[in-house]
Amino acid sequence: MQKEIFKKILQERFSCREFQEKPLSKEELDYILEAGRVPPSSLGLEPWKFIVIEDSKHKKEIAKIANSQRHVAECGAIIIITARLDFGEYFIKKLQSRNMSQEELQKRINLYKPFIENMNATQKLHYAREQTFLALGNLANAATALNLGSCIIGGFDNEALDNYLKLDVTKEKTSIMLVIGHKATNVIPQKIRFSKEEIVDFSKNL
Ligand SMILES: Cc1cc2nc3c(=O)[nH]c(=O)nc-3n(C[C@H](O)[C@H](O)[C@H](O)COP(=O)(O)O)c2cc1C
Repeated sequence: MQKEIFKKILQERFSCREFQEKPLSKEELDYILEAGRVPPSSLGLEPWKFIVIEDSKHKKEIAKIANSQRHVAECGAIIIITARLDFGEYFIKKLQSRNMSQEELQKRINLYKPFIENMNATQKLHYAREQTFLALGNLANAATALNLGSCIIGGFDNEALDNYLKLDVTKEKTSIMLVIGHKATNVIPQKIRFSKEEIVDFSKNL
């Protein structure tokens, strides 16, 4: 049963670009954000945050930063995922919150500290940003589970959005957005994808 539900969600998610003019309920947003909170992350650092924009003025202003994409202005809510760059400041605390012996804790600190401290700013952004996409997938699938439409928005000016949101860019930078709303129609477009044969290789000659 569970596997059928999961498959249905994967098949029914599509990039929705026509929304009804209707906000999301608090319960809907909570459900979606909870899915964004729980993905796996490297060293358990959860290097992401979520900024939720629901009011029409700010949605329109963000749409302008996103190449004037109409669905960004017309959705019910925008969730902007930021990539955290400040994990060096909290990683010890985060490790301490997990259940392990002092000895194990110290071992992990000794192992991770140089890895984290040797990253330059670009490497930190790359490391955090790739992980935000795990949260992104969860958010989009959670929206589908509620029969809501969603569309990933990568077409925007990151620097302009960082400025607009007044982010402290030493601590976080915008990564990717998801716009969510009530779908204007119930038609699910056909999925156009490569076949398994084209993308899966079981017979690599090594
Ligand atoms: C990283 C990324 C960035 C994207 N940026 C945009 C965007 O700026 N605007 C948009 O309308 N769709 C955007 N999309 C949605 C893709 O166009 C869409 O996922 C793809 O065409 C497959 O269609 P489907 O999502 O309906 O299955 C983006 C998707 C991804 C994964």
